[in-house]
Amino acid sequence: MTELETLVNPPQEVFEEIVNLTSETEDWAFQLGDYQFWSKNFDQFWLFTIVEKETKKLVSSVSLARWDGEDGPLFSVGMFYCVQKYRGTGLGKPLFKKVMDIVGDNNATLTGVVKMSAKYASDFGFDKVPEHWHLFSSLKCADVVIPDKVSEKYTTKLWSDVDYEALTAYDRTICIRDRKKMMTNWFNLPDTFTRVVFDVSGNIVGYSTIRLVSKNKMSPAPFYADNLEAAEVLLKDLLNMIPNWQQYASFGFLHPECNKDPLKLLEKFAKNKESVSSATFIRSQFTKKLIPTPDQKVYALADCAHQFV
Ligand SMILES: CC(C)(COP(=O)(O)OP(=O)(O)OC[C@H]1O[C@@H](n2cnc3c(N)ncnc32)[C@H](O)[C@@H]1OP(=O)(O)O)[C@@H](O)C(=O)NCCC(=O)NCCS
Repeated sequence: MTELETLVNPPQEVFEEIVNLTSETEDWAFQLGDYQFWSKNFDQFWLFTIVEKETKKLVSSVSLARWDGEDGPLFSVGMFYCVQKYRGTGLGKPLFKKVMDIVGDNNATLTGVVKMSAKYASDFGFDKVPEHWHLFSSLKCADVVIPDKVSEKYTTKLWSDVDYEALTAYDRTICIRDRKKMMTNWFNLPDTFTRVVFDVSGNIVGYSTIRLVSKNKMSPAPFYADNLEAAEVLLKDLLNMIPNWQQYASFGFLHPECNKDPLKLLEKFAKNKESVSSATFIRSQFTKKLIPTPDQKVYALADCAHQFV
């Protein structure tokens, strides 16, 4: 039998294997630099892995971030994964238990996939959930036609040309927890494009980051806008600033089902309505206290491993 070992905070190569495998088998969209980003930007971060002892090949993984705030620590659990040949052999659950031992009585959140969501609630107490699921709605770049005419009531700027105080104040209307420090570092990651959208009075009415991720895809993460018109201007300007955006395979929004605007937005950018696909993907779940989010403004979560909005 193959000997296995548990590694906590393994070398970068192990994380790269996780990114590659999860994009292949689950369509998850991460960047190779996310491990370093999480390690540096949360108050504490753990990546638990099981690997084959001899080859160091990945068997299973789960990550845990501790993010301190005015409301106390919030833990988030992500990257729960087991390579296909080892699934159902009882390896994943003990790894998950290890991170829950660290969480203790604190509030914790995760985004549970459809198949696992009920299990997280029943076995680990992730039973504080919003009424809606999150859909993943996407469009192939080959089917994109950027609209010629969009609203003239909105304009965009590069995030670095915007008053950062005003931008972070807007972010607090989306996420009640302070992401000031984290946001700059997110925007500064490689292969990342961020713009901010303004109304005619100069008020910020949204912002978005598009990341180039595994499997040659683009990932809007996050994408926030006060209304569809502003979202349309923001998406147009963002796509236009990405060199040769047509060479990428697709992009998609991970959005609350109760907000239909991300679907309408994709339809506005699609050759035809049929080229937009949409499926139920995850549910936001908490152990102690559900943190509310302004779902009508949320077109895409910032990070489906370690953020709740
Ligand atoms: C979820 C996952 C990591 C579980 O790993 P695993 O090693 O197969 O898990 P275990 O064998 O320890 O089983 C854990 C429990 O989850 C249940 N489970 C695992 N996969 C399941 C699935 N697809 N559907 C429903 N239940 C599932 C098992 O039945 C078991 O239940 P039990 O405690 O009642 O016996 C693995 O199935 C996987 O990688 N799935 C794809 C990625 C994914 O969806 N991750 C979750 C993201 S939120």
